Amino acid sequence: MKPQLKVSLKPYNTLSLDVKADYFVRIHNINDLHLARNFCQMNDCPWLLIGGGSNLVLTQDFEGLVMVMAMDKVFWPSNITVPKMSDKFALSAEAGYEWDRLVEETIQKGASGLENLSLIPGQVGAAPIQNIGAYGVELAHCLTSVDVFDFKTGQTFQLTTTECKLGYRDSIFKTHPHWIVTQVNLTLNFEHEPQVGYGIIADTIASISGQSITDPSPQQIRDAVIHIRRTKLPDPKYIPNVGSFFKNPVVTSEQVESLTQIWPGLVSYPVALIPVAKTSKTHSSYYKLAAGWLIDKLGWKGFREGGVGVHEHQALVLVCSGSAKGKDVLDLALRIQADVKANFGVKLEIEPRLFDSRGEFTYNLD
Ligand code: EPU
Repeated sequence: MKPQLKVSLKPYNTLSLDVKADYFVRIHNINDLHLARNFCQMNDCPWLLIGGGSNLVLTQDFEGLVMVMAMDKVFWPSNITVPKMSDKFALSAEAGYEWDRLVEETIQKGASGLENLSLIPGQVGAAPIQNIGAYGVELAHCLTSVDVFDFKTGQTFQLTTTECKLGYRDSIFKTHPHWIVTQVNLTLNFEHEPQVGYGIIADTIASISGQSITDPSPQQIRDAVIHIRRTKLPDPKYIPNVGSFFKNPVVTSEQVESLTQIWPGLVSYPVALIPVAKTSKTHSSYYKLAAGWLIDKLGWKGFREGGVGVHEHQALVLVCSGSAKGKDVLDLALRIQADVKANFGVKLEIEPRLFDSRGEFTYNLD
């Protein structure tokens, strides 16, 4: 394996941060991962695997090996004659396949399950790490298992959905960063059960089609989700960003009640999935607070300073000019965290992964 030297990572992260990697390779198969692992051991250097780079803040040149995930095969069932086969079918995609391309292709083949997760930037491999979720559906709904390469030991293995410990924007991969996702295995349906509980989807379908539709097709849901995302969220191709910069904080029903007394109109949703480790038996129910609402309420929406700012249509998204540095984005995040904490008493957790010259670090208000 011959890595390239001093490669700019600007095209490989959606904040367009222009830092360099000492060493750089593309990973096409498991053998490439073994070679990369040997390289890091022999050179005693850190490593970083980039998928779509849509959940990453790079604050310094990286003094190690950067791998770009390029394993991108999709394994469709051999007898996929739509719509005559059984209701469910198994589909596997390698980690480097573009997520939204997979969503689009499943819908074209008449399958449902992924339509609410349309247009999420990034690659298939990132989906279980974050348990991607949008408009009432999480990956957990259709995940069967995940194939993993352990960069510490060089072993490969498979985790079931349960073993992935999926929660709201959470999974076992967050505490096992040396586990590299190489393939995601899904179960999809030909029997369509539309998930339109998230009101804005039904409203958008009605406004696109000019009539209210009770049983929309996967394609109609996809079109609506794409429309909503394009209206609310900046396209990283034109405005560098990593999507939601903070998680929606999970609080108890008691906290929601007392906050609502001070802040009428506070937006919150019941939480369906919480990792067991984060639950406390003393509280009966949990709610996600809309962090975008909290940030918006404090007047940050549309804020600009230097090359960074807060998106004008969704306060949860920090944007950057393309010439800004990762540290500038993080400084803004810290100011917002402090303001939210001071006013609402709630801690916002940063969602993207943060890297300096030697590896991952955390950057949160205490
Ligand atoms: N809101 C505001 N002002 C804002 C943003 C939001 O008042 O600037 C309020 C509105 O009342 C809105 C509510 O918050 O109705 C919820 O907003 P939205 O529907 O945009 O959802 P979200 O909770 O802010 C989450 C995900 C998004 C995902 C949407 C839709 C997180 C951290 N983010 O955002 O994911 O698209 O739900 O399901 O959970 C991403 O991961 O990059 C992402 C965009």
